[in-house]
Amino acid sequence: MTEDFLPILGYDHIEFYVGNARQAAHFYDKVFGFQPVACAGLHTGVRDRASYVMQQGNIRFVLTSALTPDSEITRHCALHGDGVKAIALNVENVETAIAATKERGATVVEPPAEQTDDHGTIITAAIKTYGDTIHRFVERKNYKGVFAPGFAPITGYDAQGVGLAAIDHIVGNVELGMMNHYAKFYAETMGFSQLLHFTDDDISTQYSALMSKVMQNGTGKVKFPINEPAEGKKKSQIEEYLDFYYGAGVQHIAMNTGDIRKTVSELRDRGVDFLRVPDTYYEDLKDRVGPIDEDFASLQELGILVDRDEDGYLLQIFSQPVQDRPTLFYEIIERHGSRGFGVGNFKALFVSLEREQERRGNL
Ligand code: FE2
Repeated sequence: MTEDFLPILGYDHIEFYVGNARQAAHFYDKVFGFQPVACAGLHTGVRDRASYVMQQGNIRFVLTSALTPDSEITRHCALHGDGVKAIALNVENVETAIAATKERGATVVEPPAEQTDDHGTIITAAIKTYGDTIHRFVERKNYKGVFAPGFAPITGYDAQGVGLAAIDHIVGNVELGMMNHYAKFYAETMGFSQLLHFTDDDISTQYSALMSKVMQNGTGKVKFPINEPAEGKKKSQIEEYLDFYYGAGVQHIAMNTGDIRKTVSELRDRGVDFLRVPDTYYEDLKDRVGPIDEDFASLQELGILVDRDEDGYLLQIFSQPVQDRPTLFYEIIERHGSRGFGVGNFKALFVSLEREQERRGNL
């Protein structure tokens, strides 16, 4: 095996550009159970933006909005609506990560920069990926503070978590014909390998279809499925995303939980809307997936999907989009051995997704 030229320690954070970071922070706190741990803005000497760092388990979201009209953040929000700007990856050494990826064709959008405060030094840099999305490399081994210099810790408040533990995978939607381009980018520029490939034969319904390649880094810690629309009778859900996001971007973020029934019932109580799964989905489920630890009735009651492969099974559920545009949504996943993505559910799910799309008048 060749040497991993881009050793990734894990996800560092996901930065969202949003219209109103204060209100978004409230939503992720009260609804999804994220703890606000740090913030930056006028009160910390930052003049052009406000950011809130939200944490649950090993998941860290950074919600950022602009304080001025003439700003990259403002333009991003005007074009895309609220969405993911940066998928940040924790690396041992930012200089070598940038050098290695730049040499292999990466477009550097933020050159390596050091920031220092009383807690140490953090080094960051970023490269372009699909659409306006970037990968930011973060080296924090010499930093002991809460998040980064310029951020003030938030103390004296405890959010009620819902058991979300880690990021499982992050899916990108790209334009028709671009899946292979980005699969190649992850392989050649970032040293990832292809874990799975779904063709439109695997993932199609009467109306729409998609193709997907799942790319993962050398350690398997980071997984990025890349979707592109395939020809269908009507507009595919990937096209709908691309139309409303005005280009490629992050479609969904999957987060692991150790107890999906507890997590989902808590999220439902707090007002998260999940995709409606037709009751017919559960009729032949037992035959399809065989014995599992959970009882089927409780899964049906919560609308949780089940899929099995040769390594085990998984439980998953998908939220509705979390903004007015039909763009970003979340997946909650509990793995029991399976390392797959629930391809057996795609069809059942598509039927349900398309029902929602039809209600929006976009099918
Ligand atoms: Fe997923």
